[in-house]
Amino acid sequence: MGLAVEMRAGQVLLVLLGASVVMPAKDLLLNVCMDAKHHKTKPGPEGMLHGQCAPWKDNACCTANTSSEAHKDQSYLYNFNWNHCGVMPPKCKRHFIQDTCLYECSPNLGPWIDQADSSWRRERILHVPLCKEDCEEWWEDCKDYVTCKENWHKGWNWATGTNRCPWGSMCRPFTQVFPRPKDLCEKIWSNSYKYTTERRGSGRCIQMWFDPTQGNPNVVVAKYYAWKKRFSPARMEDVTPETGRAACAVPWLILLLALVLLTAGWGSYGWRSL
Ligand SMILES: *[C@@H]1O[C@H](CO)[C@@H](O)[C@H](O)[C@H]1NC(C)=O
Repeated sequence: MGLAVEMRAGQVLLVLLGASVVMPAKDLLLNVCMDAKHHKTKPGPEGMLHGQCAPWKDNACCTANTSSEAHKDQSYLYNFNWNHCGVMPPKCKRHFIQDTCLYECSPNLGPWIDQADSSWRRERILHVPLCKEDCEEWWEDCKDYVTCKENWHKGWNWATGTNRCPWGSMCRPFTQVFPRPKDLCEKIWSNSYKYTTERRGSGRCIQMWFDPTQGNPNVVVAKYYAWKKRFSPARMEDVTPETGRAACAVPWLILLLALVLLTAGWGSYGWRSL
């Protein structure tokens, strides 16, 4: 009688733990859109996305309108003026367009969505681990441009309805304002991105640029970091890819333990019935 209860408990435990291993497919951090200014409430297919935003068309948080606006100077999106210290060269601007496409369209930024302390959006992204190449090429292609500010989120003069350099600031070479690629990627949007040494295609960093014929490489990256976030009590930025991998092993170890316990239950049943 007591043994039957024990075995029943073992089976229930096994089912529950099995479910906890399979469930994360329904994770709240995966396939979501942030609650910001122009994002859709849920990701979904868009027939056509404009230009550099096209890679996200199968599953996007942006509308076609937003994707077109992302390519304009002073678009209705944010009225942001890229040319605040003279005309931004196209080879540099394309990175800012790509950054806007990722921000507006990606449904894979869930693990880094954070509360925003601003009037125009409820949520923002914080510490998105950007692939090394994406950050370095951005810096490389922009290093001949000039700017007057390190943080482009705050502190502009908006008196004319668009951002201008604040009074007293000077236009200086990019390389002076952002000495290293890391400075550019992390500081420009108040730590929305984190510089990493992870490579494109590693599954450990978010790609701003990708070839959609291979699918969206950021899907597995979001899954990986969602797991990490779930199983690590530490803050995500303190977790290395190695500890993340260890964290991924935890539910499987628990499942194995449950199996062992259950098998032990059978074993003792067999022994006692003798
Ligand atoms: C996008 O929508 C806004 C607001 O409705 C409109 O002003 C703008 O012209 C549209 N842009 C495009 C490219 O359709």
